[in-house]
Amino acid sequence: MRVLVLGGTTEARQLYAALEQRTDRFAVTVSLAGATRAPVLPRLDVRIGGFGGVDGLRAWLVAHHVEVVIDATHPFAVQMSNHAVAACTQAHVRLLRVQRPGWTPVVGDRWTRVPDMQAAADALGTTPRRVLLTVGRKDLLPFHHVGRHDWLLRCVDAPDPALLPAGTRLLLARGPFDEAGEEALLRRERIDVIVTKNSGGTATQAKLAAARRLGLGVIMVERPPVAPAETVTDATATMAWLESLSGLCGKPAHEKP
Ligand SMILES: NC(=O)c1ccc[n+]([C@@H]2O[C@H](COP(=O)([O-])OP(=O)(O)OC[C@H]3O[C@@H](n4cnc5c(N)ncnc54)[C@H](OP(=O)(O)O)[C@@H]3O)[C@@H](O)[C@H]2O)c1
Repeated sequence: MRVLVLGGTTEARQLYAALEQRTDRFAVTVSLAGATRAPVLPRLDVRIGGFGGVDGLRAWLVAHHVEVVIDATHPFAVQMSNHAVAACTQAHVRLLRVQRPGWTPVVGDRWTRVPDMQAAADALGTTPRRVLLTVGRKDLLPFHHVGRHDWLLRCVDAPDPALLPAGTRLLLARGPFDEAGEEALLRRERIDVIVTKNSGGTATQAKLAAARRLGLGVIMVERPPVAPAETVTDATATMAWLESLSGLCGKPAHEKP
């Protein structure tokens, strides 16, 4: 079965590990956006970079006889996910999305939930605060004009300096992070508030527990809307779905779902 995995997440990496054991059954190509400078590469066929929109992706699916697409991109990579829905529909290719659940607040959390990055910047207000920004390196422009805050930006790769709010200090680090380390960072940097995307998952969740313990506010940017698709939440469920689909390949049409 020819499978295209749109990668870029922890769940995608867990899926590669499982698919590496099943090359007898699945001919897999992993596609990466090319945004991360030193990505963790699987022992599978890998392609890097955009397809050229919906038309480019559809053409790629047809040219490579792809039967199944697994969309394991980040919950905020909605353009890619929307393109996958459109291209798979047009090319009559099965699509499964792997998306980890979002975070939800628990007792003691002091979250301000906002719909997008501009609203997050607005929610900070103009009184100077010490802010830990963990929103990635691409979405920084809204923070340029929201007051004289003290910014600490943590991200995996260094951003284009032109995108940084004035005076931003940079902390390059890749998760997973633990609670003790996060609490130490928040104390050392005397952080008042964290701004984060609702990415979900465990790798970057510890900052939320540390903020709760210290009574700090969190500005939580909720996930943008995305075109509907059949969805599972992890790599194990994805493998089960793939195995059951591949088991149906030899069956007569009336036995297929
Ligand atoms: N994509 C990821 O793996 C990833 C990982 C971590 C965080 N994020 C977050 O998601 C948000 C948007 O990121 P984004 O620019 O990557 O997504 P996006 O806005 O959905 O995608 C922009 C374009 O990048 C290309 N692309 C994205 N993922 C691809 C993949 N797996 N293989 C091939 N091409 C891919 C596509 O180009 P074409 O239209 O030319 O095909 C897509 O239209 C940001 O907030 C970012 O921090 C994304």
